[in-house]
Amino acid sequence: MKIYSAQQLALRNGQDRPEIWVAYRGVIYDVSESRLWKKGMHYEHWAGQDLTEELVDAPHTEKVFEKFRAVGQLQ
Ligand code: HEM
Repeated sequence: MKIYSAQQLALRNGQDRPEIWVAYRGVIYDVSESRLWKKGMHYEHWAGQDLTEELVDAPHTEKVFEKFRAVGQLQ
């Protein structure tokens, strides 16, 4: 898998580019197609970063990532 830096991930925050990416446990997922991540925002969480620690606050598990494509790994 391709490796991206935190800086490269930050560009996919839903504001600067059309892509919306989120990292979880070192894997970067493309959530651009999700209606729940429009403009990179999801219930006060922002895309373009590693949200591993924030997932504990979510009402769901990491199963939500299953339907999304892994685009790479976070450096
Ligand atoms: C307080 C925080 C959060 C709330 C209230 C929340 C709420 C929700 C809800 C209601 C859904 C749709 C129902 C479901 O799939 O269970 C959802 C989906 C999702 N959430 Fe969260 N979430 C939170 C935090 C997070 C965090 C931190 C992440 C990333 C690590 C995340 C990633 C996702 C993803 C990828 C989906 C699937 C979107 C889709 O299917 O289009 N969520 N979330």
